[in-house]
Amino acid sequence: MQDIDFTIRNVAQFEGQQITLKGWVFNLRSSGKILFLIVRDGTGFMQCVVSKAEVGEEAFSKGKQLTQESSVILKGVIRKDARSPIGYEMDVNEFEIINISEEFPIALKDHGVGFLMSKRHLWLRSPKQHALLRIRAEVEQGIRDFLNQEGFVLIDSPILTGSAAEGTTNLFELDYFEEKAYLSQTGQLYQEAAAMAFGKVYCFGPTFRAEKSKTRRHLTEFWMVEPEMAFIEYEDNIIIQENLVFYLIQRCLKECSQELKALDRDISKLEQIKLPFPRVTYKAMLEFLNTKGREKTWGDDITGLDETIISEHYEQPVFITHLPVESTPFYMLPDPSNPRVVLAADLMAPEGYGEIVGGSQRVHDLNQLIDRIREQQLPEEIYQWYIDLRRYGTVPHSGFGMGLERVVGWIAGIDHIREASPFPRTIEKIYP
Ligand code: 4AD
Ligand code: MG
Repeated sequence: MQDIDFTIRNVAQFEGQQITLKGWVFNLRSSGKILFLIVRDGTGFMQCVVSKAEVGEEAFSKGKQLTQESSVILKGVIRKDARSPIGYEMDVNEFEIINISEEFPIALKDHGVGFLMSKRHLWLRSPKQHALLRIRAEVEQGIRDFLNQEGFVLIDSPILTGSAAEGTTNLFELDYFEEKAYLSQTGQLYQEAAAMAFGKVYCFGPTFRAEKSKTRRHLTEFWMVEPEMAFIEYEDNIIIQENLVFYLIQRCLKECSQELKALDRDISKLEQIKLPFPRVTYKAMLEFLNTKGREKTWGDDITGLDETIISEHYEQPVFITHLPVESTPFYMLPDPSNPRVVLAADLMAPEGYGEIVGGSQRVHDLNQLIDRIREQQLPEEIYQWYIDLRRYGTVPHSGFGMGLERVVGWIAGIDHIREASPFPRTIEKIYP
């Protein structure tokens, strides 16, 4: 194996070999004749031992100038070491200093999240943030792999849009030359168009909500994957959702065990997740919430507090189904056997992480859709293209949206989903 292939992540393949390690000094301590460096290379963290006897007096005294976050190129031999968290260490025989770092603002002690977020561009280097964003990357790849395997075609939805779909209270509005435009809240409407051209499609990208709520589950910019399927109805839509979520859990348990360990995640909570996920109607859920001291009546939203109560009660993700027609978006299909509810379901994650997926069967009848748009007093002109889809070979179809940061936050077991985003956007955060 070539030197060039060495990474800390695959260190086990290099036992006894001379390798080159390019990285940054995460931590260091010296004991007279030996310098212990914890070096990170982007794939992991490893202790590297520099001894005066091995590198010589002159090099050793240069090494003593190293500071936290200095960048280095080390050459040396990989040695098995039972005490090391990764099982290996490196004995350095030669090194080059690329840059002596100025005093790093994030010292190796506890800092408040506010301070750390203000240094987000540097905080990314710390082990927990590193682990989290690797899990995010795995979940993103998992989503793509799962959907590609299931025959979905990736169709990117635009970010700049004239048509709002998720209410008008949380839109980011822009001047678009002579017109009004918005940052997209959802790519769904475009996926409905694409589903009529490709059958099974999805988009996966950033979406925007000018959320005034400061909760641990809300970002103003978040990533959403939105599959949409022609000829798929309510039941099958739910089955695809639970299969996707289950797949992502299994994949992270398998591929991210190091990261979950670095985050001290209690993985037994993830290991006990099984299919199928329970389904509870909105009506039954209100009754349950009322036994928990909530005073809910028909049509009330399931609020953040309710979500917490629900997801703390169930150890499995749970679907809340048959939502009340009056508090749901215009595109959701009223249940033909009970028009007070729509054929929609929200999936709640366990452990207090709240809603991770929202999905529904869509209204496919032309007149019913026009009625729904009018009932909700939405500007019909803007939706002409969307209404058109019901004029030319309309079919029953369904889809859903899954919030990436919520899923990652849950899998990783973190307190606030902002850390599941590399550069999170909240009402009070636009830098860095
Ligand atoms: O339930 P939502 O609003 O559904 C839609 O936008 C549909 N158009 C999706 C579709 O059917 N294609 O959002 C979907 C998911 C939520 O379940 C949640 O996981 C996430 O997006 N989400 C947020 N995540 C972080 N911050 C926010 N402010 C979020 N709002 C929604
Ligand atoms: Mg929702």
